[in-house]
Amino acid sequence: MTTSNTETTAPSQPEKPAAAPPAERKPASDRPYSPGLTGVIAAETAIGFVDGEKGQLLYRGYPIGQLVEKGTYGQVAELLWTGEWRRSARLVPAVIPEPVICAMHELPDHTHPMDALRTAVSVWGAWRRPHWPPTVDQARELTAFAPSALAAFHRMRQGLEPVPPNPKLSLAGGFLQQLTGKDPDPAAARALDAYFVVGAEHGLNASTFTCRVIISTRSDLASAVCGAIGALKGPLHGGAPAEVVSQLHEIGSPERAEKWVREAIARGDKIMGFGHRVYRAYDPRAAALRKVAEGMADMAGWLDTAVKVEDVVLRIFGELKPDHVIKTNVEYYAAAVLQGVGLPPDLFPPTFALARMAGWSAHAIEQASADKLIRPDARYVGPPEMDVPSFSAR
Ligand code: ACO
Repeated sequence: MTTSNTETTAPSQPEKPAAAPPAERKPASDRPYSPGLTGVIAAETAIGFVDGEKGQLLYRGYPIGQLVEKGTYGQVAELLWTGEWRRSARLVPAVIPEPVICAMHELPDHTHPMDALRTAVSVWGAWRRPHWPPTVDQARELTAFAPSALAAFHRMRQGLEPVPPNPKLSLAGGFLQQLTGKDPDPAAARALDAYFVVGAEHGLNASTFTCRVIISTRSDLASAVCGAIGALKGPLHGGAPAEVVSQLHEIGSPERAEKWVREAIARGDKIMGFGHRVYRAYDPRAAALRKVAEGMADMAGWLDTAVKVEDVVLRIFGELKPDHVIKTNVEYYAAAVLQGVGLPPDLFPPTFALARMAGWSAHAIEQASADKLIRPDARYVGPPEMDVPSFSAR
């Protein structure tokens, strides 16, 4: 697919398959149960396409590798929200409403930045009152506000004043400037922007599904995004890149990787940055971010260790789990990029959330237009009906 930065619309979507006939209302005990909802189709979407077998990721038809090379996060967010690829699309950091600053001042010292971001979005929702159905304007405002809020929290926890946003900068560059109070290095801003593009959307993952469930009740965008942030906080979803860094520190050198990985797997531990519910091929986002990391100054030593450890891990998985293909996932090289732009590890998960704002809000808009309450069933496995025992009189 060839695309240049000219104004054009997204390619036509593949022909829509016929909708499945409505499920028969058999008792839940007679219907198939899919733990973790694996393989269950719970929505139709025109936003992102993930082919786990081929290792393909498309945003509205465009391959992720091309979007990273040719686009900016502002253009990609607009594409996700509207389906249009516009050269002029931009997102710049927004001013933080005063109630959000006050709320963040009140947070305890030990607050995790993911909790701070969730709180900031919640207070933004109370202040902005983004009523259902979610709109592109609401999505733009929330996506532009979130980096300013996270940067302000990071400064306040160090006893520093928040830095006002500079509307001349991109969202990624503005985030770096609001974290440090200094003009961002253009290469670092571009690398973080690429990370934002890669993290913007990924089909019906756990946090996006959470977001769609909340919007399906006709609740508002801020509530849906708060729920999504909660889902993303878990280490099996968005918490992995920080753990990739500590894992590589623990391993220390590639020579120690073999023993460390074998012992970790034998204990039943998960190797962070590997495995994926959908991908059986190499995660195309990991490939795109590895390229970005290779172009970053000062990352050569870290990357060399990361690449060698990756080779060892993939070989061991191939040997120990021949029936379950486990490859590198996005988080492995996300760790390199986020570290390379100077972020502390505890800001990795909320920075992922900043990137995913575009995808969450695009799904919220799409779900609202379908306007169908999401309400699956559970298979009951508890005791059969019985009488409540009477207490004997004393
Ligand atoms: N380390 C060790 N074993 C693994 C790993 C891993 N990273 N990934 C999968 N496996 C093993 C499981 O233990 C399981 O083995 P078993 O069949 O002997 O019990 C088998 O492979 C199947 O794995 P599941 O956990 O069933 O795969 P699932 O699709 O449920 O999990 C997940 C995917 C949660 C991402 C898992 O691979 C994992 O925990 N990875 C590490 C955490 C991580 O990197 N998360 C980021 C994911 S990317 C993202 O969310 C943006």
